[in-house]
Amino acid sequence: AAMAVADDAPGHAGVAELQPPIEVESVWGCSDDTTPRGTTAGCIEGDSITIRGRYFGRSGARVLLVPERNGFPSALASESVECHGTRHSTLLPTLLLYCVLPANPKLSPGNDWDGATLPPASTYHVRVAARNGLTAVRRGAVSFASEASEGGDGADGASKDGAGSGKRSTDAALRLLDPSRWSELGIGGLGPQFKDLFRRAFGTRLGLVAPVVEKAGMRHVKGVIFHGLPGTGKTLVARKVAEALGSKNVRVVNGPEIMSKFVGDSERNLRELFADADEAWEKLGPKSPLYVIVIDEMDAIMRSRGTSRSDDSAARAVYDGVTTQMLAYMDGMKTGDNLLIIGLTNRLDALDPALLRPGRFEVQIRFPLPDRDGRRQILGIHTRRLQENAFLAPDVTIDGLVDATAAFSGADLAATVRSATSYAMARVYEASSAAPPPEAGADVAAAADADATAKFRVTQADFRRGMREVLAAKTASSNTEPY
Ligand SMILES: Nc1ncnc2c1ncn2[C@@H]1O[C@H](COP(=O)(O)OP(=O)(O)O)[C@@H](O)[C@H]1O
Ligand SMILES: [Mg+2]
Repeated sequence: AAMAVADDAPGHAGVAELQPPIEVESVWGCSDDTTPRGTTAGCIEGDSITIRGRYFGRSGARVLLVPERNGFPSALASESVECHGTRHSTLLPTLLLYCVLPANPKLSPGNDWDGATLPPASTYHVRVAARNGLTAVRRGAVSFASEASEGGDGADGASKDGAGSGKRSTDAALRLLDPSRWSELGIGGLGPQFKDLFRRAFGTRLGLVAPVVEKAGMRHVKGVIFHGLPGTGKTLVARKVAEALGSKNVRVVNGPEIMSKFVGDSERNLRELFADADEAWEKLGPKSPLYVIVIDEMDAIMRSRGTSRSDDSAARAVYDGVTTQMLAYMDGMKTGDNLLIIGLTNRLDALDPALLRPGRFEVQIRFPLPDRDGRRQILGIHTRRLQENAFLAPDVTIDGLVDATAAFSGADLAATVRSATSYAMARVYEASSAAPPPEAGADVAAAADADATAKFRVTQADFRRGMREVLAAKTASSNTEPY
């Protein structure tokens, strides 16, 4: 997604002459291209951003992300990230700077991290500073819209009132049923999982079957758990479901975030999480639109009570308190008809078993590692742009990759494609002996663009190296992670 430069305020004047000022031209919020436009902020949770511009310096740069609140950048909530991996753009005479973002609750839209209730940030400013503190600092403030931004891009701009979005939820959910739309969402495999999810959690909520549901006295499912190995697409699916239902009625929070927000006042804050749905139910009753709360990394807060490994008894009390509170809420849920809670975890066994009983998180969907078909689809999704631009060398076959990637998760496959692509890019910029002149005019830029495009090919050998790199990283991390 392309973003506009919002402002280019000078930084520390005086030092600026020593070195050309850093320029920021654009920012991409997602490392893969499966996330549609306008959801940049959604994917900065634990993902990465790419910044295009000039004069970052070879060794990287420090980047400050500043959420905008009420129209002003809120420096207090800013987050500093060390960015490495400066590369020449293969397409323009500029540099690309890659930043891996920490999984940090401060970056989430709508976070009231400092205790105050703030509106969701709709814009983030990205400020790049040279890495060694002595050099000039020039700020390029780039804003990009988050999912929560007001107005939208016309798709559903007007429907802010309850009735309208209620209709939209149903329609959108119906559209999700269509298998062709499913792959369009950028999710490979997981067809059976999605069908289960739909049948158990959404099917009874369709307007179409409402009379049957009522006559049969059916109750809607209140809670669903997605569980499975890391990287199998749980967060991805939750994010896509949230997108389809409309961001106004969906809140995505994660366990560690709730934990840090709720220490000291967990009960009030957990109630705050349900407040929108409660209020809509009070006002609209059964006409209320569907609200969804997604709790990612749920095991971080709702682990088995009394068995927490933490020695800190205060922390243990908070974990236990949050779990108890959630159970009480679900059992007494007066909003059961308009609220669905989706919990995500890599470790079903770590959750308090009481949460999984009927009437609570009654539906548990396991996300498996992708089989051959799944891998084929996932690789197809993550190489789509490469294929469309004829950037794949003729010796690359998706089937060959499918054969070679048994036991890879979706995240591993996506990482393999990124790694392979980076090897191919390295060939392009290493081949160009001199970097394009920094003040290149449009013609030169266009020529460099065409040249780089012509040279850029991802080969079978790149994919082999990519797989090796991903496997090495997997092995390294499995030595330190408990699962
Ligand atoms: N089934 C899938 N289809 C397409 N991409 C996937 C799939 N599973 C994982 N990925 C890729 O891996 C990334 C990480 O997956 P994620 O949903 O965060 O895994 P989990 O939450 O299960 O640990 C996704 O953003 C996506 O790029
Ligand atoms: Mg996840």
